[in-house]
Amino acid sequence: MILPVVAYGHPVLKRVAEEIEPNYPGLQQLISDMFETMYHSEGVGLAAPQINKSIRLFVIDADPFQETYPEAKGFKKVFINPEIVEHSEETWTFREGCLSLPDMNEEVVRPSKITINYLDENFVEHEEEYDGICARVIQHEYDHLEGKVYVDRVAPMRKMMLKNKLRNISEGNVLVDYKMIFPAKKRR
Ligand code: NI
Repeated sequence: MILPVVAYGHPVLKRVAEEIEPNYPGLQQLISDMFETMYHSEGVGLAAPQINKSIRLFVIDADPFQETYPEAKGFKKVFINPEIVEHSEETWTFREGCLSLPDMNEEVVRPSKITINYLDENFVEHEEEYDGICARVIQHEYDHLEGKVYVDRVAPMRKMMLKNKLRNISEGNVLVDYKMIFPAKKRR
């Protein structure tokens, strides 16, 4: 089932999400719905807060990046209760987009390498090191669990310039071809 994606400005995107237990009701269905929603909206990652669930879960399929970034090939994973336990001092600037902020993208500076500890969809624990585009997508999705979106990481001056654009997104004044929940939509 395709789920509506919550737009920028919704309080769920500012909340720190909660860890889940293996008996979380309907978890496998939820994971499958999140992949379906992500593919439908042509995203490479989707975090549970973006479908209005404040839990520590995100899905990634970075395969569409494989032409430019070979490490993205077959990078499809489910991350439950993740924790980034290490990151490099070295950074990398990359232009990010987000399904909750349609029709915009901005350059964001992030650590180029990370180590992440997480549970997969079967609650098996992993600790893995990533760099390149995989580290980038993971950090973007991880931010959603921490109540952050990528525009929170652009320079304050730049964010100020994006103010109108961001207000338009939260009010639903934006062209988008997937279903969304706009927190500040006015009745007309
Ligand atoms: Ni996002």
